[in-house]
Amino acid sequence: MTDGHERLAGVSSTALFVGITRADESRRPDRLFEDTLATRFVDAAGPEQQAVWTEGQGKLFTEAMGDYFALRTRYFDDYFIQACAAGCRQAVLLAAGLDTRAFRLHWPDGTRLFELDQPNVLDFKERVLQGEEPRCEREVIAADLREDWPSLLAKQGFREDVPTAWLVEGILVYLPERDADRLLDRITALSAPGSHLGVEHVTRSMVNTDQAREAASASPEGIMGMLSSLWKNEMTQPPANWLADHGWSAAEESLTDLAERHARPVPPAFDPALPGTGRVRLLTADR
Ligand SMILES: C[S@@+](CC[C@H](N)C(=O)[O-])C[C@H]1O[C@@H](n2cnc3c(N)ncnc32)[C@H](O)[C@@H]1O
Repeated sequence: MTDGHERLAGVSSTALFVGITRADESRRPDRLFEDTLATRFVDAAGPEQQAVWTEGQGKLFTEAMGDYFALRTRYFDDYFIQACAAGCRQAVLLAAGLDTRAFRLHWPDGTRLFELDQPNVLDFKERVLQGEEPRCEREVIAADLREDWPSLLAKQGFREDVPTAWLVEGILVYLPERDADRLLDRITALSAPGSHLGVEHVTRSMVNTDQAREAASASPEGIMGMLSSLWKNEMTQPPANWLADHGWSAAEESLTDLAERHARPVPPAFDPALPGTGRVRLLTADR
């Protein structure tokens, strides 16, 4: 605790980073979603932790990523709505962070939703959410996604015999390729026919971009230095092929098309038209 605020350090602090951008998006008149709880997380984290992402290099990075997180959130909101329309009544959010879809989206009656993340992130989240009612049956599971999380999921009532809508958002970049592979193996083994999978695929290559290198050398103690140490994934295989190798049939929407569809600028950090930018892929897949 610092100044009465719970500390979210290292990779846990990235959950707050995304929460800050969702709070900002929710204040826009042309917002792509409304996450009223995001501001509560930001307030609970307190000024010192907010400052990591809202001052100096952190501010530049947050501004550069804001439109991207808004588009990504809306893309996977729509994915869940479609998976439910197709009959799914079980959802799993891996590395849920401060995701509030359980409280924001209109889930069909009888939907069970599981959220997995690190214990300190979930402790913080549950404290802030005290008294809030989810719009589905919600189960929260503290787990390391590099370890045996499927047995924890089973203990909490996950059913392997019904289709599941999985979400892998904002996590692959933190896992070395071997752990990412194992994660997908485990998801696949637990997926009944008719299951769905939403995946955000970003690799470490982003910290090798011109923009990131410039930021890191301008301020070695800053955000880019921290992210550079946290980002592990170096997978070079196209993500749709990676999913196909595990038995999933994937569709991808380019960030440019997604941005155009929602009348947003292409996020500068990932704009293929700009030299030296990173690449990100958003995919949905069926099995
Ligand atoms: C960038 S945040 C994304 C959170 C959420 N998916 C979202 O989009 O808001 C990354 C999350 O991954 C979680 N995480 C990273 N490594 C993990 C691991 N090995 N096991 C469980 N969670 C992990 C962090 O705690 C953090 O909440």
